[in-house]
Amino acid sequence: MSRIIIFVFALLPLSLAASTTAITNHGAVVTEVAECSDIGVQILKQGGSAADAIIASAFCVGTISAYHSGIGGGGFMLVRFNTGKTHDYEMIDFRETMPAAGNQTLYVDNPDPTASTIGDLAIGVPGEMRGWEQLHKRHGKLPWKTLFQPAIKLARDGFTVNPALANQLTSSFGFLTADPLWAEVYAPNGTILKLGDKVYRKRYARTLQTLSEQGADAFYTGEIAVNTAAAAFARGGILTTHDLANYTAIIRKPANITYRNHRLFSTVAPSSGSVVLAALKIFEGYPGSAQDTDPAINVTTHRLLQATRFGYADRTNFGDPAFTANVSTLEAEFLLESTAEAARAKINDTHNFDPSFYNLNNFLVLSDNGTSHMAAVDAAGNAVSLTTTVNLFWGSQVMTTDGIILNDEMDDFSSPGQVNSFGFAASPANLIQPFKRPQSSIASTIIEDLETGEFRMATGSAGGSRIITATLQNIHYHLDQGLSPSDALHHGRWHDQLTTTTLFEENTPSIGVPGFPNSTVAFLANINYNVSFEDTTGSAGHIIAKVSNGSYVAASDPRSLAGGGAVF
Ligand SMILES: *[C@@H]1O[C@H](CO)[C@@H](O)[C@H](O)[C@H]1NC(C)=O
Ligand SMILES: *[C@@H]1O[C@H](CO)[C@@H](O)[C@H](O)[C@H]1NC(C)=O
Ligand SMILES: *[C@@H]1O[C@H](CO)[C@@H](O)[C@H](O)[C@H]1NC(C)=O
Ligand SMILES: *[C@@H]1O[C@H](CO)[C@@H](O)[C@H](O)[C@H]1NC(C)=O
Ligand SMILES: *[C@@H]1O[C@H](CO)[C@@H](O)[C@H](O)[C@H]1NC(C)=O
Ligand SMILES: *[C@@H]1O[C@H](CO)[C@@H](O)[C@H](O)[C@H]1NC(C)=O
Ligand SMILES: *[C@@H]1O[C@H](CO)[C@@H](O)[C@H](O)[C@H]1NC(C)=O
Ligand SMILES: *[C@@H]1O[C@H](CO)[C@@H](O)[C@H](O)[C@H]1NC(C)=O
Ligand SMILES: *[C@@H]1O[C@H](CO)[C@@H](O)[C@H](O)[C@H]1NC(C)=O
Ligand SMILES: *[C@@H]1O[C@H](CO)[C@@H](O)[C@H](O)[C@H]1NC(C)=O
Ligand SMILES: *[C@@H]1O[C@H](CO)[C@@H](O)[C@H](O)[C@H]1NC(C)=O
Repeated sequence: MSRIIIFVFALLPLSLAASTTAITNHGAVVTEVAECSDIGVQILKQGGSAADAIIASAFCVGTISAYHSGIGGGGFMLVRFNTGKTHDYEMIDFRETMPAAGNQTLYVDNPDPTASTIGDLAIGVPGEMRGWEQLHKRHGKLPWKTLFQPAIKLARDGFTVNPALANQLTSSFGFLTADPLWAEVYAPNGTILKLGDKVYRKRYARTLQTLSEQGADAFYTGEIAVNTAAAAFARGGILTTHDLANYTAIIRKPANITYRNHRLFSTVAPSSGSVVLAALKIFEGYPGSAQDTDPAINVTTHRLLQATRFGYADRTNFGDPAFTANVSTLEAEFLLESTAEAARAKINDTHNFDPSFYNLNNFLVLSDNGTSHMAAVDAAGNAVSLTTTVNLFWGSQVMTTDGIILNDEMDDFSSPGQVNSFGFAASPANLIQPFKRPQSSIASTIIEDLETGEFRMATGSAGGSRIITATLQNIHYHLDQGLSPSDALHHGRWHDQLTTTTLFEENTPSIGVPGFPNSTVAFLANINYNVSFEDTTGSAGHIIAKVSNGSYVAASDPRSLAGGGAVF
């Protein structure tokens, strides 16, 4: 408790820092659940910082959208904060780690093909609570306990199944009815809850209450930790109380590039923010402002796709920098103008090449899933862009007696012997080692004006390996094409992660996404792209932007069925 009080006083100078932004409103929050964005704005209204708002909103999202986030998971966040005279950025890495007993062949030697996705062997040491603790300690203003109250109330007094949750409450997830801990929440009368029903997470409410009173330590040591390790042990897992007690969140320096008249900051390895930056650095060498009706849109789209294919090739070298010495060096090299120039020299404006042209090491491109993105900005220009996840839907499908849904993040590691259809092998940088963090596609990004340094945009996305392409298209459509934040998110997307096929979104009137323009798809098909269509790319991003009249605008992705932004 005493530590919590220290946080508050230590951070008072932040609130006194002069604002460099002439904004006409006071803050904004956007998440994939509209009522969770409202909760964040309430926190801002109470005098909370962007950090406070995002913590309260994230507890809410973790309560309602428990199928992909919550305190049993982890992620990455990028924080912009005032330092008095100026401002700075830092990244908080609260990614899960492999337990001490993990080994390289943990999954490939296991006869169970779902060992890395379902059940206890899939569980990484959760990072979420240490992440919030660091964020609050460094950038919070309101008491820690205050930030839990809205989520405790929702979990205890119930919330309504929204359309996004309803989509994940299906009988194909047998554990929802078969496992008593899950059934207590999601099938209290024997049948799975549906749209509009009330959900109660009483155990989770009590757990949040304990953590609000005792701090994050109560998650990593003591009864909650014992129960977490017991849930893992009961089903043959390797996660122990020692692993939990030893977990730390890591503060890292984010990557940045200049991009036209902006500076872009994003999260570094083991996340993939620098992949987005590397692609945009290549693309910066071309004009970007062509509108969808301009003839130049065809070659512009091709060049952005080519830049992205080089970016995914870079990514095959990445893993936890604590375990692969040259990851951070390579990451910095990939962002250099000289690297971008060399890539542009290889791009042919009338030809798309096979994947091996870009991927010189011929490493397997990792494919991951899941996640939830959110962002908050306050009146002083402090901002947080973060992405958190329990990985695949419903994580490891293990719930503890404290109502915590445990992640299956360890599936994001590579294993020896894995090959894709081209015979590319797994990159050594992402093989399993004890205490290591698996590679992630998360790319939480904040953008400032190059000249004034003022906050301009916070963005990111959910959607596994589609995060990278969604984030860079959000940036392209808003900054280069000049679309409003909402129009940028409604624009049809493509997805290309350096496989043999490039995906394009179809016209999906039900969510107001018109699909990617087919005249450009026809152009691409003519220059050697293997084209295929999907209803939506499954990525869901958000944008908070400071627009020309000085206001913050918060836009949520129409692909996220319950999402919403809030400003005040
Ligand atoms: C890896 O860990 C698993 C799970 O504890 C164990 O069964 C297996 O024998 C270990 N493999 C090696 C090579 O140590
Ligand atoms: C479950 O049963 C109880 C008691 O019969 C009833 O009050 C409640 O409305 C039911 N809930 C659902 C979601 O059907
Ligand atoms: C704690 O974690 C660090 C890596 O973060 C590792 O080097 C160390 O051996 C771990 N200690 C124990 C007791 O597991
Ligand atoms: C941007 O990145 C460069 C190169 O890595 C670094 O030297 C510089 O300090 C970074 N700028 C900021 C504002 O963080
Ligand atoms: C893009 O190329 C296609 C196929 O060559 C062409 O039909 C279309 O008009 C072009 N788009 C624009 C906006 O000019
Ligand atoms: C990174 O370093 C390792 C170990 O020194 C080396 O085997 C590997 O080739 C290096 N990777 C690159 C891309 O330079
Ligand atoms: C670009 O690709 C086209 C079509 O394959 C080819 O004819 C042309 O020679 C290539 N240009 C260069 C500079 O390689
Ligand atoms: C991950 O998402 C992709 C694309 O939506 C899907 O094809 C794949 O089956 C998913 N993988 C898992 C393990 O859920
Ligand atoms: C298109 O698909 C074929 C068949 O899978 C593959 O051989 C080829 O490399 C693909 N082309 C590109 C540009 O990826
Ligand atoms: C483009 O064509 C595909 C395949 O015919 C179709 O599914 C999609 O809806 C079209 N997109 C648009 C924007 O009309
Ligand atoms: C500023 O512009 C935004 C977006 O166009 C609009 O929603 C907002 O109402 C405007 N604010 C003022 C004070 O004019």
